[in-house]
This record gives sequence, structure tokens and C-alpha cells, in this order.
Amino acid sequence: MNELFGDVKVEKEVESRRAEWLRKFRRGFVYNFGQHMLICGITGSGKTQTMFWLVDEIRKAEENGRKRQETIVWFDTGKSDFISRSTEFLVLKRFGNLNVLIPEGCDIKFEKDHGDAVKVQHFSIDNLWNKIERRRINVVCLEPFLRDEELHGQIFTKIFDDLIMKAHNLELKPPMALFFDEFHNLCPPTEQDALSRSHYRLGKRIQKNIERLRSLGIRFICSTHGMTKIRKGVRMSFQWRIIKRYIGDFGREDNRLNDFTGFFRKLENWECVIVYPNGIFSDVLSLPFYPYNEEDGYAFYQGMITEKFIKVYSEPINNKELVTNKQFIAVNLRKGYLLFEFSSPLIKKLDELGITENRVSVRLLPINSSIPIKFIFDENGKYGFTEYGRIHCMEFFREYNLIGVIKGRSFKVEINPEEKSVTAYWKPLKPLS
Ligand SMILES: Nc1ncnc2c1ncn2[C@@H]1O[C@H](COP(=O)(O)OP(=O)(O)OP(=O)(O)O)[C@@H](O)[C@H]1O
Ligand SMILES: [Mg+2]
Repeated sequence: MNELFGDVKVEKEVESRRAEWLRKFRRGFVYNFGQHMLICGITGSGKTQTMFWLVDEIRKAEENGRKRQETIVWFDTGKSDFISRSTEFLVLKRFGNLNVLIPEGCDIKFEKDHGDAVKVQHFSIDNLWNKIERRRINVVCLEPFLRDEELHGQIFTKIFDDLIMKAHNLELKPPMALFFDEFHNLCPPTEQDALSRSHYRLGKRIQKNIERLRSLGIRFICSTHGMTKIRKGVRMSFQWRIIKRYIGDFGREDNRLNDFTGFFRKLENWECVIVYPNGIFSDVLSLPFYPYNEEDGYAFYQGMITEKFIKVYSEPINNKELVTNKQFIAVNLRKGYLLFEFSSPLIKKLDELGITENRVSVRLLPINSSIPIKFIFDENGKYGFTEYGRIHCMEFFREYNLIGVIKGRSFKVEINPEEKSVTAYWKPLKPLS
């Protein structure tokens, strides 16, 4: 009898300790903004379920008035479950209505009718972030339509660049949580692990900006089956970890966790351990299960993304010299915008000089027979500088009445390493007004 009572007591103590860990987690992570979370576990260990749980936790906290509403963006991997005959992302319906975003030229069809609970919108490479809605759970379907590795890297880079630019220009509504299942697909550790050059560069780009996104109230909630399959600099930016059943190496920075691999490999599908930003970790916690609903049925992905989705450029530049090119990009027949594009030798030169800032200010200098435009690299610059050397600065052209005044390549470029600037010169096509 005594023994039994003893067990009950221990059980109670463990229960109250678990509740305390959860409270701590909610206070530190769920009710907060802009802190990145990495879930790691082997295939089938319940990673996606853990991500559902986090959506649930965030939404519940909002309903209870414990936090401001956070925009949720879920990047769909396109998985379906053949036993319950339904598509993974439809589980999200239980947390709110969905805004499903499909690339133009592709489509999605549903086996069952979801009425207002699922809204579908198409997006182009330039306007994904404008289509995000705060009131719905946004599901971005890209991966199911991507077969080509080079395109995969290029598209995610562009989308990520736009995210940074828009966050910086305060065009997005933070707080925002981006859910990425299988995050290693975005930032491989080395060039050899990358599927393409653009894929590897995407990882670099994420590394460079993930901290800034955090300070702008945008957090990543990601999963992976291999910690060391993610770029080191990127995984180090994740303050929080949830460990599911896991057998791999945690990497040097998480060496402490490596001492417990025997323990982590025995976790059940519903179990997890939370690692807090100070490195302390919780008791084993049990998570709820969000089963797939057979009534949701399948979603069918139709079509695939081709070059056309991103190739809207009027003329690709192929310069061997250091030049800045003024270009017009036709977005569709009626609309377009102006930008500057640095030639690849010029980008290379800037890289060599260590000018790697991805923000830039653009100024028109005093004009005589030529039109000099100065680009100053500075983290507070008004415009974004993409890894392809592009500066989208329509506003600049308008502000200085430069539309129709300069065209094509600059005839001269000067680099000033101390000032971190580039000045390019054009001959005017017509006198400036
Ligand atoms: N909290 C839970 N309670 C009960 N069963 C669970 C729970 N979490 C996961 N499972 C079981 O484990 C299975 C796999 O879960 P889940 O799809 O989340 O894993 P995963 O790690 O995302 O897998 P994959 O690598 O295939 O994407 C679920 O279908 C379910 O049967
Ligand atoms: Mg999964």
C-alpha cells in the first residue's frame, strides 16, 4: 500500500514538474515573438505533429488574450497520408481558415469541398508577401511544384530577399511566424551538400539575415531530421530546440546534447524534450496528436514551376566588364519596374573588397555632361541589394525624373572601398528637366 502511495506521490511530482516546464516554455516562447525554434527528430518521429502543436499553442494563447495576433505562414511540403487518405496541410483547418497560395501557372484541386474554410489565391514571384493574410493561416505551396534544383534555389532566394526587404521597409505586418518543415532543404552546410549553386547561396543569405528578421519580429519555426545538415551559422541562430526521437549528431555547438543521444533515441512519437535558450532541458513531455481527417480528402497539385515563373527580365546581362546596367523588367504587358543590375565581375570585385552589405543608398550626383549615380552600401540603406546584384529602386527613378533619361549600361564605374560605394556614369538620352 505504502509503495503504491509512494508511486502516486512521485507521479504527482513529475506531473507538476512537467506543468512547470510547459509554463516556462509558454512564457518564454509561445507568448513571445521573433524567437526561432528548431525541431529535430528522425523520419516519423512526430516533427510535423509538433509543428501543428505549436500552431495550436500560438492560436490558443491569442484566443486567451495572452499575446498579440501573429501572422502564420506555413510552407507546404506537399505530403499526403495514404492511410487516412488526406493531405497533410489540411490538418491546419482545425486551427483556423486557410489561405492557400499557389504559384501562377500551377493549380490545386481538392477532393472535397471546403467552402470558406479554404481559400485559394495565385501569386507571382513578386507578390507572394502581399497575398499573406493575418486572419487566415497562410499555406504557401511551392515545393510540390518544384522539380528543378536550380529553380528551387532561385525562387526561395527571391522570396526570402523580398521578405527581408519588406520587413525592413515595414511593409509586412509583424509579428509573423514562418513554419518550414524539413528546413535542411533550404540551407545546406557546404557547397558539396547543396543541390545547386543558388541553393548554397540561399543558405548564406538566410544566415546573414536570420538575426535581423528576429529583431523585426519574424520568427522561423522549423524542423529537420539532421542538425548537421543545416548550415552551422543558421542553426546557431535558433535559440530554442525541441528534440523528438533522434539518433544523429547534434553538432559541436550542441555538444551537451550529444551526451544524451542514448536517451533521445528512445523517445516515443508523442514525446519530446524542450531545450531552452539557456541550454537547460525539460523532462520528457507528452504532446497532443492532431490526426488527419479522412473527411478532408486529398489536395491534388497540378502543374509545375518553370523558368517562366521567374524569367520576366527583358534582357539578361552578360557583361565581362564592371558595369551597372539600368534595366526595365516587364512584369506583365502593362506593368513593370526599373532597377539597376551590377554585372557579375562588379559583384565579384565588391565581394573581394568585403563590401557584402545587402542594403544600399542610391544618390544622384551633380550632373555635367554625364549622369553619375552613386550606390553606397550601408545596412541602413533604403534599398535591398540582391545576390544577383539587383537594386529595385523605382522610387529613385521617379524622385529624380530619371525615367527615359538613361538607358542600358553605364560607360564608367568607380569603386571607393573606404566609403563602400560604387559610382556609375551614364550619358543622358535627353536633357534633364
Ligand atoms: N503526439 C502524438 N501522439 C500520438 N501519435 C503521434 C503523435 N505524434 C506523432 N504520432 C504518430 O507518429 C506519426 C508520424 O508523425 P509525423 O508525421 O508528425 O512525423 P514526421 O517526423 O513529421 O515524419 P516525416 O519525416 O515522415 O515527415 C503520426 O502519423 C502518428 O501516428
Ligand atoms: Mg513530417
